[in-house]
Amino acid sequence: MVGLLKVTAALLLFVSYTNGKVLDRYYPRYHFAPPYGWMNDPNGFSIFNNEIHLFYQYNPYTSYDTGIAHWGHAISKDYFHWQHQPIAMYPDEWYDATGVFSGSALIENETMYLFFTGNVKYPGETPDHINRQALAMSTDGVTFTKYVNNPIINGSTSMPDLRDPKVWEHEGTYYMVLGNSLNDTYGRVLLYSSNDKISWDNVSVLAESNGTLGYMYECPDFFEVDGKYVLLFSPQGIEPSGDKYHNLYQTGYIIGDFDYSTHTFTPTSEFVELDHGHDFYATQTIIDNFGRRIVIAWFDMWEQNYPEASDGFTGIMTIPRELRILNGNLVQIPVGEISDIKGKQVSAINGNYTLRYKAGEVNVLADGCQDFELYIVSDNVKVTISYDAANGKVTLDRGGTDGVRRTDWRPAGQLNWRIFVDASSIELFCGEGEVTFSSRFFPKGAVVIYQGGEAVLEVRNIVRTMPRPT
Ligand SMILES: *[C@@H]1O[C@H](CO)[C@@H](O)[C@H](O)[C@H]1NC(C)=O
Ligand SMILES: *[C@@H]1O[C@H](CO)[C@@H](O)[C@H](O)[C@H]1NC(C)=O
Ligand SMILES: *[C@@H]1O[C@H](CO)[C@@H](O)[C@H](O)[C@H]1NC(C)=O
Ligand SMILES: *[C@@H]1O[C@H](CO)[C@@H](O)[C@H](O)[C@H]1NC(C)=O
Ligand SMILES: *[C@@H]1O[C@H](CO)[C@@H](O)[C@H](O)[C@H]1NC(C)=O
Ligand SMILES: *[C@@H]1O[C@H](CO)[C@@H](O)[C@H](O)[C@H]1NC(C)=O
Repeated sequence: MVGLLKVTAALLLFVSYTNGKVLDRYYPRYHFAPPYGWMNDPNGFSIFNNEIHLFYQYNPYTSYDTGIAHWGHAISKDYFHWQHQPIAMYPDEWYDATGVFSGSALIENETMYLFFTGNVKYPGETPDHINRQALAMSTDGVTFTKYVNNPIINGSTSMPDLRDPKVWEHEGTYYMVLGNSLNDTYGRVLLYSSNDKISWDNVSVLAESNGTLGYMYECPDFFEVDGKYVLLFSPQGIEPSGDKYHNLYQTGYIIGDFDYSTHTFTPTSEFVELDHGHDFYATQTIIDNFGRRIVIAWFDMWEQNYPEASDGFTGIMTIPRELRILNGNLVQIPVGEISDIKGKQVSAINGNYTLRYKAGEVNVLADGCQDFELYIVSDNVKVTISYDAANGKVTLDRGGTDGVRRTDWRPAGQLNWRIFVDASSIELFCGEGEVTFSSRFFPKGAVVIYQGGEAVLEVRNIVRTMPRPT
């Protein structure tokens, strides 16, 4: 029966690929996107046999809704050239029948272990769904076998929302963080430990909302970088406050110290949003073979109804970014591999510049004491990125309702921005990466860049690395 279901699903997938045409106008040239259909959270980000694996929450049948989540899969050697792989996991077991939800990968003994959440809906009951944690394995990195005795962590009616396992190993013990909601009111991150990856103990609560910081925490991650511990997670239910928390859901972090012997996390910072744009959610990180801690996020937001859906796809991923702690702040730097896919510098421009193929990098160098504006425009949209020197604020305004995102930032010396444009996305890195904005925009025609100020603008084309959609 299961085999039959898989064959049927593969057949349907084939049909949807051949019928479902993906248009190129908003499809990224060098950011990851699904071949067709709906994509949300990145999953199972890992390095296996010297290749980078990225999985993702995937509905292969339509770009208009999440459907029942599968795990899509792609492989890269450099974070930019991706090869789509067969779907890694289907919702084909009782415990994941209404969604193979998010999770992570652990590589050990030439085996890839995927930890994930099985979601089951129980319509009309209270609660109407239960999350359970499960395991799958692969030795070839392409075909995955779910563990026969799944689930490895049971769900319960008193705690239906417990999901998105992130697993790591430390001195012979395995650890897992899970996102949780206590009584639908208080978001939490729970820490579990195990000696065998199968049997898990609930050992501590790493973070708990007091009610103002969200009713649910999703996609937790916990790691050490530059001598500090970072708890990174995606809370739901934080109210807007000043310039903060204007997206439907947030992603941010708390820096602190951690004691493995007592499982105690002692925060040394408040909760800080990791990105200040419109579209950034559900992060995953890895340590790569060079010892870098690299983060990737879903470059989208729930409930946006972006026009790319009518082009046959929904969802792209951010540029993978290296995380460091500089002067006590978590900073994000585009992975150095991006240099390898850049074209030559076009020019130091003064007038208008039309990006080739709507993709490129713009570097801005300006007087840090002056106001500055950069415009990224097309026939149907105008994005303004501005610096307000008197108040030390950066604003990205993509127009329309809720177009403005703003945060505090002052350059250390000269104003120094790196901006990456890619068909339907803008990523702004301020200074050393201490502030970033990631926002989608949907230019129908050519994309033109010009400035309102006196900056030196350097523009570079970036080559297409993603398989051209069909
Ligand atoms: C490593 O994998 C091999 C082959 O899958 C298996 O026979 C062996 O028991 C594993 N060793 C450990 C320590 O898990
Ligand atoms: C999960 O619950 C089932 C039945 O409710 C039980 O048989 C099983 O032992 C439990 N598994 C774990 C890992 O607690
Ligand atoms: C959560 O709900 C349970 C059951 O209603 C209750 O016993 C408990 O006190 C609640 N916890 C909090 C922190 O409100
Ligand atoms: C884990 O332990 C904490 C207290 O240490 C408790 O609040 C929580 O409900 C437990 N979680 C589960 C899933 O049993
Ligand atoms: C919750 O925590 C936040 C941040 O630490 C604080 O500003 C707020 O006053 C707290 N609210 C309550 C109800 O304790
Ligand atoms: C640059 O483009 C903008 C917007 O299309 C236009 O208003 C402006 O006149 C152009 N400037 C030059 C120098 O062509």
